[in-house]
Amino acid sequence: MTNNYYPFFNLPLPYDYSALLPFIDEKTMELHHDRHLQTYINNLNATLADYPQLQELSLVQLIQNAYRLPEPLQTNIRNNAGGVYNHRFFFHGMIPPGSSDNLPQRNLAQEIDRQFGSFAAFRESFQKSALSVFGSGYAWLVVCRGQLMIITTANQNSPLAQNLCPILTIDVWEHAYYLKHYNLRTDYIDDWFHVINWQAAEKNYLACMHARA
Ligand SMILES: [Fe+2]
Repeated sequence: MTNNYYPFFNLPLPYDYSALLPFIDEKTMELHHDRHLQTYINNLNATLADYPQLQELSLVQLIQNAYRLPEPLQTNIRNNAGGVYNHRFFFHGMIPPGSSDNLPQRNLAQEIDRQFGSFAAFRESFQKSALSVFGSGYAWLVVCRGQLMIITTANQNSPLAQNLCPILTIDVWEHAYYLKHYNLRTDYIDDWFHVINWQAAEKNYLACMHARA
């Protein structure tokens, strides 16, 4: 992921808007990337324009250090830097269906089996968490002190703010699925499992474990 510093701009998706069909529809991807993510980018740039010292921080550093800032700047940075990071992470965590065997790979696969018992048990647990998000937010697979953990975050809060290392995420804001799945978040989560980029997840897992070493 490039463009980690101010001014932020909208990186193109790593696939076409229609590439995730039939699981995620083209219009949703277009609106989600070009309008929703763009709005977070615009708001973050507008906020940072008044704070040259914050322009020196990377996107990750902004999220990790937001708690040090006075309100309402703190909330503004948490929402908008989080909105940029979380969406980029979510979009890069998906891949057109058929591109892979749609199962975790190598190290991450072993660790999922070790900690959750099986991929099916992990999947059930992840689905439950994603369904449990009340209102808008995300479900994540993260590394916490060397262990895998499934967590949820509200709004645009990011695991980075809790010193957790993200591997995989699903955006469960209604804008992520309402056009195709209406209010059926369960169906959206099922469909999302068909387009998970497990190669990216494996890479993220290794980076998390390396950063810990
Ligand atoms: Fe979103």
